[in-house]
Amino acid sequence: MNEDLINEIRAKSDIVDIIGERIPLEKKGKNYFGVCPFHDDTSPSLCVSREKQIFTCFSCHATGNVFKFLMDYDKMSFPSALKYLGDRAGILVKEFKGKRTEKYSKYYDIYNLAVRYYENNLMATFGKTARDYLNGRGLNEDVIKEFQIGLSLNKANDLTNLMVKKGYDLSDLNKIGLSNDSHDIYSNRIMFPLYDLDGKVVGFSGRVYDGSKDNKYVNTKETPIFKKGENLYHYAAARPEVRKEGYVIVMEGFMDVIRASTIGYRNTVALMGTALTSEQIKLIRRLSEKIVLCLDGDDPGRNAALKDGELFLKAGVDVKVLTLPNPDDPDSFILREGKDAFTSYINKAIPYTEYKINSLKSGINMSSTEEVADYINAALKELTEVKDTIRVEIVLKKLAKDFDIGYNTLAKRFSDLKGKPKEKVVKIDVQSKKNKDKYLKAYEQIIYSMLTNPDVIETVKDENLLLTESMDRMLLQEIIYYYEKYGSINIPDFMTYLTDKDELLARLNDIISDNYSDSISKEDLNLYFKVIKENNVKKRIDYLSKKLREELDPVKQAEIGNEIARLRIGDNSNG
Ligand code: CTP
Ligand code: MN
Repeated sequence: MNEDLINEIRAKSDIVDIIGERIPLEKKGKNYFGVCPFHDDTSPSLCVSREKQIFTCFSCHATGNVFKFLMDYDKMSFPSALKYLGDRAGILVKEFKGKRTEKYSKYYDIYNLAVRYYENNLMATFGKTARDYLNGRGLNEDVIKEFQIGLSLNKANDLTNLMVKKGYDLSDLNKIGLSNDSHDIYSNRIMFPLYDLDGKVVGFSGRVYDGSKDNKYVNTKETPIFKKGENLYHYAAARPEVRKEGYVIVMEGFMDVIRASTIGYRNTVALMGTALTSEQIKLIRRLSEKIVLCLDGDDPGRNAALKDGELFLKAGVDVKVLTLPNPDDPDSFILREGKDAFTSYINKAIPYTEYKINSLKSGINMSSTEEVADYINAALKELTEVKDTIRVEIVLKKLAKDFDIGYNTLAKRFSDLKGKPKEKVVKIDVQSKKNKDKYLKAYEQIIYSMLTNPDVIETVKDENLLLTESMDRMLLQEIIYYYEKYGSINIPDFMTYLTDKDELLARLNDIISDNYSDSISKEDLNLYFKVIKENNVKKRIDYLSKKLREELDPVKQAEIGNEIARLRIGDNSNG
């Protein structure tokens, strides 16, 4: 993969479009503003520049080009971001291995091999009982293929032996959760591959199927490539479907997701039986701002809906709750009732706050005026969280009717509770540039100008500019190198070039997020050079003075003294 193609893909992918498809942006002047997804934010501190093709957060200083955004926001690897943007731009991207993938590529290879091995087992003669079990649950060959379902055998070390024979190390197999010493982790289970956020297989869930009393599921342990709380079942596959449908359905188990796909619902992800983590909330929010929680209809499922709904609400997303009949899960409901019934349940999903108001009602003693009053007050308080005024009115009317209370009484109490809307304070951190001394500001401005105005690069080369900080010196050299190699330079492409040079990129981001001006006059430039040179001289004098104090040889003392004197009168030649 060459740099030119990468830059072409970058140039054909407008960062405003890509970010705008994920978070709402508002145009103000030349730039676009939105709520920054990289820190806890409610005010629009994320600035996206069409002209510069970069994003910058005023508050948390996150910055980068379109690749960086997809890598951080959609958790794509660099190669998948490239592939994704290439596809959109109609540019063919061949298999491309970045450093990050390479690091674990052996693990992915092993998992791919394991998937194929288990799939073959299921289709072999001895896989019949397992196939019967799956067919008995209404899962046909297409589904089995789509979800790469397989079978582990009732032997102690089948897979391990195969992998070792293929040349893989036992220690690697242990590390990624397929073996324990020389024994297989999974035996005699139906194998469901688990995928990472890019859709690569990184684990398994193995289910019992022949009535044995073992744990229903055995899951892959936490490994370098599989982090349970940072993952969701079916995430990568759901992404395009969610975009198409405009919302995402969150379910409990992967069987629910698999079942939903049989009736054409593929905008689904599953939590896989773990408590919802804040990382998962972020991931789901990245798929869509519109979420339908479709958990099990039993009591634990309903309680989880209350708990998870609250977490989503706090994260500022529009979450609706779908309540299935007790004790259905989506799997059993869809199997019994079919697609149309499920669709009508989806359409009946209600906003979380209303769900909460309804569930507060269950369990109160209707003949106790006190309990009823408490409930109504609690319900009104919840209702203050609802933004849609029409829904508010509907709920108020319903409360008035259900409890035979005057609508106006409720409406008055509601508006008292709601009070004045809280002012949101836009907190913009403008401190950082102020804290930098004039020397630092001078060369940061120069580095920035080199990226926006290549003439400055030539001047810097002519001036033999020397920076004392090694990171900045390297950054400067990289800019010159890049410019000489490619004949032009711009911020987003240079960022791509620095992708694997973490420290340099961080330093560049630090400079870019500080709002230096794009254009710089010749006079200012000279002034900055002067500041830098003066500072270099001062540093050199400090260094020599220290050396002088430590020097015992009088001849050398004299030499050092002379150099200091020359520097002081402004002659910094070495002669
Ligand atoms: N789970 C698990 N271990 C268990 C039970 C559940 O890891 N012993 C996880 C699985 O990831 C499962 C999810 O929790 O997908 C939901 O559990 P459950 O509702 O019990 O599973 P179902 O989807 O109903 O599976 P099945 O219908 O096959 O019983
Ligand atoms: Mn089930």
